[in-house]
Amino acid sequence: MTLTPPSAPALQMRGVVKTFGEIRAVDGLDLDLTPGTCLGLLGPNGAGKSTTMRMLTGQAIADAGKIRVLGHDVPRESKQARARMGVVPQRENLDEDLTVRQNITVWATLLRVPRRSRDAAVDAALDMAQLSDRAGSKVLTLSGGMRRRLLIARALVHAPELVLLDEPTVGLDPQVRGDIWTLVDRQRSAGVSVLMSTHYIEEAERLCDDVAVMSHGRVIARGTPATLVAEHAGVEALEFFGPPARLAQIERTVQPQGFRTRRTGPAVSVLRAEALPLGMVDELGDGTRRAANLEDVFVLLTGEKLED
Ligand SMILES: Nc1ncnc2c1ncn2[C@@H]1O[C@H](COP(=O)(O)OP(=O)(O)OP(=O)(O)O)[C@@H](O)[C@H]1O
Ligand SMILES: [Mg+2]
Repeated sequence: MTLTPPSAPALQMRGVVKTFGEIRAVDGLDLDLTPGTCLGLLGPNGAGKSTTMRMLTGQAIADAGKIRVLGHDVPRESKQARARMGVVPQRENLDEDLTVRQNITVWATLLRVPRRSRDAAVDAALDMAQLSDRAGSKVLTLSGGMRRRLLIARALVHAPELVLLDEPTVGLDPQVRGDIWTLVDRQRSAGVSVLMSTHYIEEAERLCDDVAVMSHGRVIARGTPATLVAEHAGVEALEFFGPPARLAQIERTVQPQGFRTRRTGPAVSVLRAEALPLGMVDELGDGTRRAANLEDVFVLLTGEKLED
């Protein structure tokens, strides 16, 4: 097994390209993950997030570029890399006819958890995912949130050093989403490196030390959530609600002065509002000041809106 020096990135991608026919799903991607941190991949549908994850596990093979995971060259040494990583795919692949415990045990065996510690590892995974009382239930009888938690428990059963989570909380209620955040946060606190894709801005803000914004197969911005906000969206936004004509009037007032705006349903936000001249603030009328956020950054950079 190749040893990874403590300072070496948990994963490293350089100039990685992946095409599907005419589509360049990943188009010259550079990515590093500092060990023991959580890196969020934020990007609109089709940005190449899942393809990136699949190349890290060796499920998809890059057309060009270099990939190293935990010191292993991928795909050449993907088996060794895979044994040290936990993977939660976007499309769930649980065995419906097996019980919760059996699903985890099968993976513990595949991932070579030694027989003598296997039962204890499965018990610990069940406990962590709060599924101990459902250990004997068939997967097809579980709720959506339980299935997600099982998927995560299964990925963690062999105590991986790097965890890939592809949209781990999509479609879950806030309670279950919070439970999963706690799970991920515990892993990170224990020194595990995490790469997570998400559409939920709050998830990225709460969990990720670092965020890489992806668009068309490339990283177009990278930094801590706070740095990205300060760099791209400034300090404050001034938000106005009203009928479309009123919103359009606000846009016509500020845009010629170089201020960028962002529509969200029945509202328009003027970004970098801290720099608005006082006269213009008066002219605009009643608005609400709010702190600039990561969603502003995302919309400014990709021109897309995230899910609410
Ligand atoms: N197996 C495949 N065959 C053909 N095209 C593919 C395949 N996998 C991905 N693509 C294409 O590659 C592009 C990137 O897809 P990918 O699934 O990586 O995006 P994503 O960022 O994960 O999107 P989402 O947020 O919707 O999950 C898309 O245009 C997609 O249609
Ligand atoms: Mg995806």
